[in-house]
Amino acid sequence: MCGIVALVGSREASPILLEGLKKLEYRGYDSSGLATVTIDRDNKESYISCRKAQGKLTNLLRLIEKKSTLGHVGIGHTRWATHGKPEEKNAHPHLDSSGKVAVVQNGIIENHSLLRSNLEQKGIKFSSDTDTEVIPHLISEEISLLKKEGHKIGGSLLQLAVQKVLDVLKGSYAIAVIWAESPDVLIVAKSQAPLLIGFGEGEFLCASDTPAFSGFTRTILSLEDKELALITPLGVEIYDSLGNRKHRAPKLISGYESDSDKGDFKHFMLKEIFEQPETAELWITRYLPNGLPLESPVAFPFEDSFYDSIEEIQILACGTSRHAAMVGAYLLEQFAGISAKVFFASEFRYAPPPLARNVLTIGVTQSGETADTLAALSMEYERRSACNQKVFASRQLGITNRGESSLSRQVSNVIDIGAGLEVGVAATKTFLGQLLTFYGLAIIFAGRRKSRSLNEISELCNLLRGLPKQLRDLIVTHNKLAEKLSHKFSSTKDVIFLGRGINYPIALEAALKLKEISYIHAEGYPAGEMKHGPIALLDHKVPVISIANEGIVFEKVLSNAQEAKARDACLIGIAPELPETMIFDHLLPIPRTSEWISPLLTAIPSQLLSYHIAARRGLDVDQPRNLAKSVTVE
Ligand code: AGP
Repeated sequence: MCGIVALVGSREASPILLEGLKKLEYRGYDSSGLATVTIDRDNKESYISCRKAQGKLTNLLRLIEKKSTLGHVGIGHTRWATHGKPEEKNAHPHLDSSGKVAVVQNGIIENHSLLRSNLEQKGIKFSSDTDTEVIPHLISEEISLLKKEGHKIGGSLLQLAVQKVLDVLKGSYAIAVIWAESPDVLIVAKSQAPLLIGFGEGEFLCASDTPAFSGFTRTILSLEDKELALITPLGVEIYDSLGNRKHRAPKLISGYESDSDKGDFKHFMLKEIFEQPETAELWITRYLPNGLPLESPVAFPFEDSFYDSIEEIQILACGTSRHAAMVGAYLLEQFAGISAKVFFASEFRYAPPPLARNVLTIGVTQSGETADTLAALSMEYERRSACNQKVFASRQLGITNRGESSLSRQVSNVIDIGAGLEVGVAATKTFLGQLLTFYGLAIIFAGRRKSRSLNEISELCNLLRGLPKQLRDLIVTHNKLAEKLSHKFSSTKDVIFLGRGINYPIALEAALKLKEISYIHAEGYPAGEMKHGPIALLDHKVPVISIANEGIVFEKVLSNAQEAKARDACLIGIAPELPETMIFDHLLPIPRTSEWISPLLTAIPSQLLSYHIAARRGLDVDQPRNLAKSVTVE
């Protein structure tokens, strides 16, 4: 979603800002812009140089090449449209009427309509449809008032003006502000949206996410909610909302990556699918190493007491992370025998279940920045803290791929799945890392609750340890098969995925993957549910893809597939090669394996099929339309 980059330094800001924006491109955006404070030494004046462009960053670059934006202090932005279409006029930065104050924002200003109509009544003309534009106008208004009160032009005046405006804003935001009259000052502030300050040599770079800092610095300070930072070439001053100075040292962060390159792959998504054996290998080395006692074979970073007295688990997540959570809940209930429920994070916040005792709440988010998930976790924390009884105390666990994310700062117990930066908007290797983490939790709870014998636990651990090799072979085979099969989907408009039991969430995930990147309408159903309605959609034009692995629901899924075949649907099976699976018109074969670990394998063919269908259609696989990698608004 929107990306902010801002710089105070001694070098020309624009190239550094553009480089930073490039590294945030993966978050998803539809327009971009930047502004610098340009000093005209001959005329002894400063002004804002601002350029904006619809579409990809290359459009902005071209514009700046034609007409440069000089200055050592600047702000840049990639916009993912919320209020107002993805057009140049709505791209950030937004300026006040005098053109002297420029602002970029990530988030949503919920009371923008009221603020806008107040400003319009005072004669202010707006040039965009965004919620953000109220901010520069309001800051400008405050600046005029403060000047009238006799405040001296400079950083402190701008700080005061920005703080007064923040006091009236409702919603979640991260902002960066520059002002032509105070040319060496940058103000940044945040509330429920990420903003980090990187300390370089004689310069400071602010950004929404760590990849923007690669090649710049590893020394980073993360701004907390309701804090504001006044940044000049001399240093960074942090203030709380009451204007009190706060002192906090930056931290050296380890192991953040830039978006590297695609290597020999055409798209990041394909590269990331191929990286999954390595994801599994790294996860196993870290969390399921050989040599640990069978009673506690999983090396998550918590004391044993962390798991004490947990009676129930609730999992909050969105999109693909929610599908991983659904497989997780199946494992926790069916393998480990502990009750587990999965919630859409966006729904949970406003309709939570009644408080139950001794609950572990797990938030799953690969980016660690999903606003819905963070807000749901925070609501749950607050309502439990308000109870003041030990059995209702809030116990939270985060599962993420970004150790330096907002989730990691918000939740004290975090498992980093360690999949490495995922650039493709469609989650693939992070899904695998999330699934593996739930296997780890299921093993821990099965051991603690003695719901499985040590033999059964050891068997599951061994199956997981054999996964990297299985994945390697599977990906190579299915890459070819999926490419071939993708030709059949040239005019397909609807696809149905069927799965049951532990593979039902894989059907949901397969459908999500396909719609995200190919824009083909796809639905996932529990196979037994098809006859209760969706079967009406079937004819020869609608492919039905059934996920069928040997186990308790194998025959049932095959019968449900037959029902589709009887309606002329083209039947594709993600299933082992067996006499029973000859019913499929096309088989995407998976190795015969235990039902428990089957989702780790059945997810692969549909990832590759979606990829090849979208790539054949010539679509922007890594940055599909309308989607963002980090969904930082609710
Ligand atoms: C995955 O392919 C999607 N891009 C999307 O559904 C994603 O899983 C969802 O937005 C949640 O993201 P998170 O894991 O970063 O919280």
